[in-house]
Amino acid sequence: MGKMLNTNPFSLLAEIVSPFAMQSFLIAMIVLIVLGTIIQMIHHKNIIYFFNNAKKAKLQATREIGVAEKASILAKTTIVDIGTTSELGFGKRRLSHVLGMYGTIIFWVSSVVLVFCYTGAGKSSSSMWSMLWHVGAILTCVGGYWFWFFLRVDVSAEAHPWYRIIKADLFVLALLACSTFGLAWSYTQFNGQAGLSFLFLTLFVASNLILFGGVYWSKFAHMFYKPGAAIQKNLAEADGSRDNLPPPADAPEQFGLGIKREEPKHY
Ligand code: HEM
Repeated sequence: MGKMLNTNPFSLLAEIVSPFAMQSFLIAMIVLIVLGTIIQMIHHKNIIYFFNNAKKAKLQATREIGVAEKASILAKTTIVDIGTTSELGFGKRRLSHVLGMYGTIIFWVSSVVLVFCYTGAGKSSSSMWSMLWHVGAILTCVGGYWFWFFLRVDVSAEAHPWYRIIKADLFVLALLACSTFGLAWSYTQFNGQAGLSFLFLTLFVASNLILFGGVYWSKFAHMFYKPGAAIQKNLAEADGSRDNLPPPADAPEQFGLGIKREEPKHY
């Protein structure tokens, strides 16, 4: 098992598939992300709304932010808000998201590094990057399955069974399929189970095609929109424009517990 984690599955695959074909596949996936996101922005008009809203808000600004302050807001937003998905508050929802998010980033980066630098005749091997590839997939599974079975709002607050699938689940399910089938492929290939490893490789490829080919229909692009929105929100707070919202009252909030009184489970 330990040996498998240190083995680059793509270099074993290179015995039957050319490294050039693998590299082309990765580039095609990146092209699909760009195309899917751009077409989605055009169709949903969300980017037009975003910039119009930001322009409108700017008119309400009460102060000018300098370059240094802007840089510090950007850095803080990146590290705290985006890097720890702070909008999910404290708790399981945020922890599962952080696991899945970093797992996926590690999985993708190590896939690129392994395929471009450590796969093919005459290339050396890297147990560190091979290990990261497997760890990334495992973290994605931990965060993703936790979310899928227990935390999804449909399941945790609306009492729908975990196996009810709707279009909004495309992203999380395709993501989970990629990591799960990727791990199963690596395991069976490492153990020389030719038939099974071919089956899991096919499923791995298919789930990648669905994940990256489905960007237009899925929640994939939230990983670009969310950081943009967080930066805009924090800049609008600093320049006093506050997205056209009124400032907080100076009296303490006294609304009782409100929605914090109990978990939303009214069914
Ligand atoms: C590689 C980067 C990322 C991955 C793989 C990822 C993955 C996911 C997944 C699988 C979901 C569940 C989607 C669903 O079915 O409802 C989700 C939801 C969400 N993501 Fe991300 N995400 C990423 C980046 C981000 C970033 C950068 C932010 C914010 C700064 C963010 C904020 C959120 C929020 C607020 C939700 C809703 C969570 C909930 O319903 O509990 N994500 N993300």
